[in-house]
Amino acid sequence: MISKRKSIHGQWSSRWAFILAATGSAVGLGNIWRFPYVTGENGGGAFVLMYLLCVFCVGIPIMIAEIMIGRRGRQSPINTMRTLAEEEGHHRAWSLLGWMGVVAGFLILSFYSVVAGWTLFYIAKSGFSGFERMTDEEIGILFEGLLTDPGLLMLLHTLFMAITTLVVSLGVRSGLERAVKYLMPSLFILLLIMVGYAMSTPGFIEGFNYLLWPDFSKLSAGSVLAALGQAFFSLSLGMGAIMVYGSYLSHTTSIARTSVSIALADTLVAMLAGLAIFPLVFSSGLEPGAGPGLIFVSLPIAFGQMPFGHFIGTVFFILLLFAAWTSSISLLEPAVAWLVENRNMRRNRAAILAGVIAWLLGIGSALSFNLWSDYKLFGLTYFDVMDKLTSNILLPLGGLFVAIFAAWIMRRESSREELALKSMRSYQVWLVLVRYIAPVGVILIFLQAIGLIGL
Ligand code: TRP
Repeated sequence: MISKRKSIHGQWSSRWAFILAATGSAVGLGNIWRFPYVTGENGGGAFVLMYLLCVFCVGIPIMIAEIMIGRRGRQSPINTMRTLAEEEGHHRAWSLLGWMGVVAGFLILSFYSVVAGWTLFYIAKSGFSGFERMTDEEIGILFEGLLTDPGLLMLLHTLFMAITTLVVSLGVRSGLERAVKYLMPSLFILLLIMVGYAMSTPGFIEGFNYLLWPDFSKLSAGSVLAALGQAFFSLSLGMGAIMVYGSYLSHTTSIARTSVSIALADTLVAMLAGLAIFPLVFSSGLEPGAGPGLIFVSLPIAFGQMPFGHFIGTVFFILLLFAAWTSSISLLEPAVAWLVENRNMRRNRAAILAGVIAWLLGIGSALSFNLWSDYKLFGLTYFDVMDKLTSNILLPLGGLFVAIFAAWIMRRESSREELALKSMRSYQVWLVLVRYIAPVGVILIFLQAIGLIGL
């Protein structure tokens, strides 16, 4: 029985529209801001290798599982999990997985929006005055100045949350689809230009080697978990974002093929960002482990020096803003879909309510760089707690349960029917990955990070 359910929220207009939206969700600050800085904090090449392993062995099978579950349930992740669990003869408590995703989405959006706000600041700065006349030091001070200005951070955070809420309130077709069509390809081209420029800088070889030469002596116990967390974060997995996008997908689309394209595009953008940024970092003598400010210091230095840097810099930050925007939408969508389904709210009201909750949580992130910088939990600021708690714990945990549900709870007839893979071999490969490799991988990485077993 092919499930004849329909989503009350609408459906993507085509397979291509879904690819764009899901890629829009996946490609964001995670690729361009987070990937380089987390790579820098974890020593480079060996981390990147672990990251790629996580994407291919854990990320892609789980992405296929999430889209499959979403399309079969055709509702918000909370209701989808409950419906499918009951249908497969299991307990409705599986809906808790959807709830965990909603919570994770709010927590991620709370710091994501603050960082996206930084890009707004850099659009204005590069548009109006550019970085040509600034020394490297002044560019560093500019970033510090931004972080220590709570009023400005709050303003930017508020602006970004407002535009996110606006698009979500417009709905699946008119809101989400429209935003991604031109912006993603442009971002890609601009990244290529940046890589081209990076190749002309003296630090290129060093940057290239740093990113691609695995030096396992630099891999710490926490790095493997960080690589897993980055894979989940970058692919938008483990919180229901890709699941809810899958629930708007037509029955005729091949889930497996589409997932592979999305994951490849996402990985390509992250690698290009790394290739564009590390040469600049080494050319200007910056520290690769400098943390969240990495691209906000290294890129402006490059824009100040390169030909047409004023123009390219402005366009780059605009595109980064759009990449963040199309991602943040997907962080809010699962909660909004649930409010519409269960609280009978109109979409725009639901979007505003969810936006306000994420905005409130984000205040802590904005203030953690200044007024609240001394409040720490396990030595981490509010911002870092939100980031690490979601990426390194909640998302892999969500992904683990998605894998368990898809491979152990759903009957094979159900998953085979929904995936509709022509070749039995491909189905079996997926099944092995999602039954054994992905869950065991996640559990082992958790255990070794806790230090229970010496891996
Ligand atoms: N993947 C996005 C990025 O790389 C962020 C994101 C959007 C996300 N939706 C998500 C992360 C869902 C985790 C879960 O910037």
